[in-house]
Amino acid sequence: MTIHTAPSHPVTNTHALEFAKAWDYAPAPETAKVTIEPRYGLFIGGEFGRPTNVFATINPANEETLSEVSTASAKDVDRAVSAARAAFPKWSALPGVERAKYLFRIARRVQERSRELAILETMDGGKPIKESRDVDLPLVAQHFFYYAGWADKLKWAFPSTSFSPVGVCAQIIPWNFPLMMAAWKIAPALACGNTVILKPAETTPLTALRLAEIFAEAGLPPGVVNIITGDGGTGAALANHTGIDKIAFTGSTDVGKRLAKVAAARGIPITLELGGKSANIIFDDAPIDQAVEGIVSAIYFNQGHVCCAGSRLLVQEGVVEEVIAKLRIRLQSLRVGDPLDKNTDVGAINSKLQFDKINEYLRIGRDEGATLEQPNACELPKRGWFCRPTFFTGVQQSHRIAREEIFGPVLAVMTFRTPEEAVMKANNTPYGLSAGVWTSKGSKVFETAGKLKAGVVWCNTFNQFDASSPFGGFKESGFGREGGMQGLRPYVKLG
Ligand code: NAI
Ligand code: MG
Repeated sequence: MTIHTAPSHPVTNTHALEFAKAWDYAPAPETAKVTIEPRYGLFIGGEFGRPTNVFATINPANEETLSEVSTASAKDVDRAVSAARAAFPKWSALPGVERAKYLFRIARRVQERSRELAILETMDGGKPIKESRDVDLPLVAQHFFYYAGWADKLKWAFPSTSFSPVGVCAQIIPWNFPLMMAAWKIAPALACGNTVILKPAETTPLTALRLAEIFAEAGLPPGVVNIITGDGGTGAALANHTGIDKIAFTGSTDVGKRLAKVAAARGIPITLELGGKSANIIFDDAPIDQAVEGIVSAIYFNQGHVCCAGSRLLVQEGVVEEVIAKLRIRLQSLRVGDPLDKNTDVGAINSKLQFDKINEYLRIGRDEGATLEQPNACELPKRGWFCRPTFFTGVQQSHRIAREEIFGPVLAVMTFRTPEEAVMKANNTPYGLSAGVWTSKGSKVFETAGKLKAGVVWCNTFNQFDASSPFGGFKESGFGREGGMQGLRPYVKLG
């Protein structure tokens, strides 16, 4: 028997419009100004070089060039690897308590400069300032604090075995959480005594370069972290360099598979955090209003540029109409636009390339026979790349919009009848990064979560992160964990 506890309110479009109007705010732009150099060189051996072979990084919210950064050539990659190699013996021989001091200093400096970093993150990448300020930056500082705490306690992380750092780590990161991905990768690597060459994504290099400034301010010995900018060519040169001992990558599954071959051929360790097509399951006994908030944060947070986004919504049949009706209303009240405005909920799509890709999926979804809805009617800025929060109903599991990672604010809504069907549909994907379960029954949470093939399962919430909690995927979403004690493991050799 189905116990249907959620109240069903009559919802009409008129109500929705009144509601949306009631939530119309005056503009509240971020007022602090951040200085950006016209050009940046590479950060190798503790100092910035002269800018060479530059390319522009732009603000996706207005298409203006923010700065120009250098493309690291094969020769530059070689210099960076040599600097990291040279720094390794001394850095790895430091007592953990000494390495911890540097990490604590970096963490505190990130906090002190967090407003500047948040603004820059938003300008370079397009995410709303309230996210970079309240989510990304606190997590960046938290990761450095957290792994600073581990640096002198590694023998408790690896009891009854000897361990040593892996060596020189090549870390290649994407554009969706530029500074957070840098922190997730650098902090555990340094805590364990490794040295690093980090390559940020080509559309979001500016905050990683600021982080380089912070490393210098913290007195981190030259060469311990090197930051080289460039495109996929630079990434490939770095990953293929014979002087590196480990690859850590977050990004597309295609590039991840290529890097896995490189690592296998050389017999070096690799950790991969790749794409996702995560399911968000709403049972009919769930608190529906909270679940709708959860749906919004699962797929519209950071414009859906989230590898673990809950991009497949699975709703139990009895409540699907109520969920859709409430979702429609909620989407009308989201503010899409200037990412530097403190009231903005959905910012700019990171690049023209990604914008085109998302629009292509909107077309594919319609061609496949699904119904597209974009209930939000707010006016979009004239320039820049913006996409209204979108959902598709009438979606089949075989549709491409239900199988492929779109990496945009686009939700595929499907239904299920029984818990078994929900689990079967949720697991029907080559990915396995995350999942969400919404129900008022604790037993159902555990029963369902245990059967989901996903690295993280959120219950009655979504997209919650913490430095002490491991994160990573099943199947084609990758392997290895970041965060928590588990996040130390990829950065040591045991025995
Ligand atoms: P990408 O995988 O090409 O880029 C990620 C990083 O890898 C960047 O720093 C890039 O310069 C570098 N890279 C590119 N080619 C490389 C190569 N051959 N060797 C070494 N490094 C290389 O991702 P892209 O093109 O920016 O986005 C394409 C799609 O990938 C997105 O639409 C999205 O579906 C997915 N994606 C998933 C992410 C995740 O966190 N799981 C993050 C970014 C993108
Ligand atoms: Mg940019």
